Amino acid sequence: MKSLKIILLFDLSIKIAPEDYSGYWNTPDWKIEKDVKNTLIKLGHEVIPYGIHDDIDPFLKIVKEQKPDLVFNMSEAFLGKRDFEPNLTSLMQLVGVPFTGAGPMSLQLCKDKGLTKVILDYHQVKIPKFVVAKKGRALNSLKNFPFPAFIKPLDLESSEGISQSSFVKNEKEAIARVKFIHSSLGADAIVEEFIDGREVYVSILGNENLKVFPPRELFFKQKAEDEPKFATYKSKWDQAYRKKWGIDTAWANEFPEPMQKKLNDVCKKIYRLLGIQGFGRIDLRIKGDDIYFIEANPNPSIGKKEDYALSANKAGVDYEDLIAKIVSLSLSA
Ligand SMILES: Nc1ncnc2c1ncn2[C@@H]1O[C@H](COP(=O)(O)OP(=O)(O)O)[C@@H](O)[C@H]1O
Ligand SMILES: [Mg+2]
Repeated sequence: MKSLKIILLFDLSIKIAPEDYSGYWNTPDWKIEKDVKNTLIKLGHEVIPYGIHDDIDPFLKIVKEQKPDLVFNMSEAFLGKRDFEPNLTSLMQLVGVPFTGAGPMSLQLCKDKGLTKVILDYHQVKIPKFVVAKKGRALNSLKNFPFPAFIKPLDLESSEGISQSSFVKNEKEAIARVKFIHSSLGADAIVEEFIDGREVYVSILGNENLKVFPPRELFFKQKAEDEPKFATYKSKWDQAYRKKWGIDTAWANEFPEPMQKKLNDVCKKIYRLLGIQGFGRIDLRIKGDDIYFIEANPNPSIGKKEDYALSANKAGVDYEDLIAKIVSLSLSA
């Protein structure tokens, strides 16, 4: 591939001027950005890193002056707000610069754990039954809901707002948890049927021609058979807690061939229906032969040791190939 001029765009929780970046590349917070930057350089590209916090003008200025071939988009927020993630891609569309990964429509849609389910349900993808509870309106009753239920913020990520109390056994507990999400997090809530099954993550690469990588699975080795199992905020971010409960992602236990095919097909269908481009990860729960959609993650984190890159690698797409492919997909989109 010919050498390209690439802006590596990421978000910053505080303002840092580009001339001061050198002090940050070796910090844990910038690890993935550094891996991507070094890989792009190794592939022969010219890389201009740019961290965005709250000011759009300098970014637009760099795009105008440098005329990059593309933006490698690692941004997930603007002004510290994840809600604005899609807007940055809208802006790139307006100024006519190609970018890696998903576009604004898909980023916006996938943030909504209710709307995605309405669309997928219409297309016969299995989803948990659910009720959306918007924050302006108290939820007063949940008649005929199939308990136990699982309650989470409608559009937050990384298990924010998910704890042991997200699992509720009856209407009373559900109403209290919804109230907590509304008042403490200021977020809308979704009440979902709790799917008691295996938790599987499927990584996909492509725009039209899709490559489905070997699935990863979340294991809970220290939990009793009959205990409800799910990923909380703590289980995602607290290493000691993960160790204590034996919570870890690893290669999914093998599925019989017809089931593996069904899993690949349903994940491709979801990816297409939600308009994901470039690369994405689908989170599912599997109960018996039923595959339930939980959520879709366009532009998933691509740390070398994380699920996406590990799955790609197992399928023979090493980290360098992966970054190269994400770049070329953005130019053919
Ligand atoms: N309907 C559900 N049934 C069972 N577990 C669920 C359900 N929804 C979410 N979970 C659990 O909560 C975790 C986080 O939910 P998810 O929708 O993936 O949000 P996030 O964007 O925070 O990753 C999942 O990984 C899963 O363990
Ligand atoms: Mg998830």
